[in-house]
Amino acid sequence: MSSVETNPAARTVASTQSEMTEIILPNDANVLGNLLGGRLMHFIDLTAGMAAYRHSRTYVVTAAMDHIDFIRPVHVGSLLTLKSSVNRAFTSSMEVGVKVWAENPLTGVQVHVASAYLVFVAIDKEGRRLKVPELLPETPNEHRRYADALLRREHREAEGARRKQERQAHSVPNIAKA
Ligand SMILES: CC(C)(COP(=O)(O)OP(=O)(O)OC[C@H]1O[C@@H](n2cnc3c(N)ncnc32)[C@H](O)[C@@H]1OP(=O)(O)O)[C@@H](O)C(=O)NCCC(=O)NCCS
Repeated sequence: MSSVETNPAARTVASTQSEMTEIILPNDANVLGNLLGGRLMHFIDLTAGMAAYRHSRTYVVTAAMDHIDFIRPVHVGSLLTLKSSVNRAFTSSMEVGVKVWAENPLTGVQVHVASAYLVFVAIDKEGRRLKVPELLPETPNEHRRYADALLRREHREAEGARRKQERQAHSVPNIAKA
């Protein structure tokens, strides 16, 4: 995919911070009355996308969603709060972190239920990659996430290369061409 140059100004992590709150209804739940994993992933993707939009101010697509731990079930009636921000910007991609809490609306008690890292790629209307602005970490936590994001990128690249090799090793010959 070709890349289009832009002249983006650097942005702070704070300028990317995004938040979404949802009330969990029976339509979002499994037969036990707990939030479906796929529905939670959808909310995570949306909240992460908001942070990526705020950083790039372009169209973005989800390139990857890392391993997610569903730490605790979320019951119907809970208030779900998701918070996201960009951890690091690379050339056309951005790593976004999302943290999710469930709140009992009667007691106000909040528990951490999930966390995830996602990668978004900035594109134009024709699907060409765009250069994203540099991200400026300010607080100690932002600096730690910024450094960790590079390690996760290296890990993703190594894993991606390993999976590609595995696919090629097990690929079935294309019978249409035979
Ligand atoms: C994501 C996508 C744009 C990458 O396109 P590509 O031609 O493979 O691009 P490249 O390999 O040149 O990589 C472009 C950037 O994406 C990153 N990237 C690509 N695949 C990735 C993956 N699986 N995980 C993490 N990052 C990835 C690269 O590291 C690179 O980042 P950089 O520019 O900051 O260095 C393309 O694969 C795509 O369109 N996928 C479908 C996206 C989609 O439909 N998402 C769901 C709905 S929004």
